[in-house]
Amino acid sequence: MSNVFFVGCGPGDPELITVKAKKLIQKADVIVYSGSLIPPPILKLCKKGKLYDAAGLVREEIFEILYKNAKKDKLVVRLHDGDPSIYGAIKEQIDNLQEKGISSTVIPGVTAFLASAAALETQLTLPGITQTIIVTRAESRTKVPKREKISELAKHKATLIFYLSVHLLSDIVTESIAGGYKKSTPVAVVYRASWKDQKIVKGTLGDIVKKIRNEKITKTAIVIVSNVIDSKTYEYSKLYDKKFSHGYRKSKIK
Ligand SMILES: C[S@@+](CC[C@H](N)C(=O)[O-])C[C@H]1O[C@@H](n2cnc3c(N)ncnc32)[C@H](O)[C@@H]1O
Repeated sequence: MSNVFFVGCGPGDPELITVKAKKLIQKADVIVYSGSLIPPPILKLCKKGKLYDAAGLVREEIFEILYKNAKKDKLVVRLHDGDPSIYGAIKEQIDNLQEKGISSTVIPGVTAFLASAAALETQLTLPGITQTIIVTRAESRTKVPKREKISELAKHKATLIFYLSVHLLSDIVTESIAGGYKKSTPVAVVYRASWKDQKIVKGTLGDIVKKIRNEKITKTAIVIVSNVIDSKTYEYSKLYDKKFSHGYRKSKIK
């Protein structure tokens, strides 16, 4: 059966790519890539393939390129930034290809929120603070179900991660506070995580909008609202506690 590869190539640093993704890009006959978010050194890995920038194409045009070439048994790669499953619009293409008898293989990648956490040198869950991460977006043209309103999600006091939303930062702030977060809650914005021009801006729900306006960041950023950012009050993990026994180690307290 003919096949299309949906490949994640990571957040920007060309070394944050999987070996599988690299090999597929090197061997591909055709690559449709997601515009400006794919770093040029990764596109340069493509030695003989024809490259199409998806930024200027609509769904039907992308589908046609994938379908037509897969049908000819070419090695076809749909290259996504980060991980294809995160706001990547792959399901519609996989389903349409399947209807025409073409199978798909998905290769995961390092998504932007994980590169952002790395840039912040932090942990997204901390004992005593939160054990939950909520990944979401603020509402704009793409509607978000009412039950997932930011004010509802904020009630959990989990780590809130926003894609595609830095231009809607004031909505994030208003709704996070409406949901019960204090104005002093830490917020971090990571612009172009892992790229050479990466920028980190830290603040609180009270002052982050002004800071981001001053930095003129309007896109390609992850917003994290959470008390895990620069926390001084977390608890140490149980896993490495000398009093704690588990399947691989006995307690070191006599
Ligand atoms: C259409 S989504 C694609 C996300 C991608 N599939 C992923 O897993 O990272 C694009 C959004 O991802 C986020 N993004 C992508 N790359 C980023 C990076 N290097 N640093 C910060 N945010 C990034 C931004 O919020 C941007 O608006």
